[in-house]
Amino acid sequence: MPKTNKIAIFASGNGSNFEAIARACAENRLNAEVVLLVCDNPKAFVIQRAEKFNIPVFEFQPKNYASKADYEMEIVQLLKKYNIDLICLAGYMRLVSDVLLDEYEGKIINIHPSLLPDFKGLNAIQRAFESGVKVTGVTTHFVDKTLDGGKIIDQIEVPIENCTFEELETRIHTAEHELYIKTLAKFLII
Ligand code: GRF
Repeated sequence: MPKTNKIAIFASGNGSNFEAIARACAENRLNAEVVLLVCDNPKAFVIQRAEKFNIPVFEFQPKNYASKADYEMEIVQLLKKYNIDLICLAGYMRLVSDVLLDEYEGKIINIHPSLLPDFKGLNAIQRAFESGVKVTGVTTHFVDKTLDGGKIIDQIEVPIENCTFEELETRIHTAEHELYIKTLAKFLII
């Protein structure tokens, strides 16, 4: 039976968060279905993950469009066609504009590998590791026009002490996969 809540995931890269969400849906740990991957990078590994779960992919290259508004208009049309309730950004390396926000503001969630508002932007795990702070973490938040700046939903702390950078990365990604599912569960219609 089709599930009530339809999710689109936007991703540009590896896709471990995509897979964590798709798996949680497939295993009925979330009352939702991932019905679309939106990907701006045809070489991204996340596309192979989507194929494994038989999830349709909208692949596009921003350079083939005259403007961000142009490709976002095409994306909005697709989101409507798929009756999307919730959009998850998971390593989507672009800011969204008014075209998407006018239709879906309050329904777009992002995950970021730091305790926001600290370490916004790229290489957040590395910058936290090198900064000397003892604790970093993971944040889920609503998306607005600013970089990692929307209203915070949930956070998990991840200790930095006594670990290498690679160990910290693993801890962060494990925490991300757990936190994204917990956050999504709050917004699904049961
Ligand atoms: C994650 O660290 C996420 O917090 C950030 O981009 C990374 C994506 O990882 N926004 P993956 O592609 O889901 O493995």
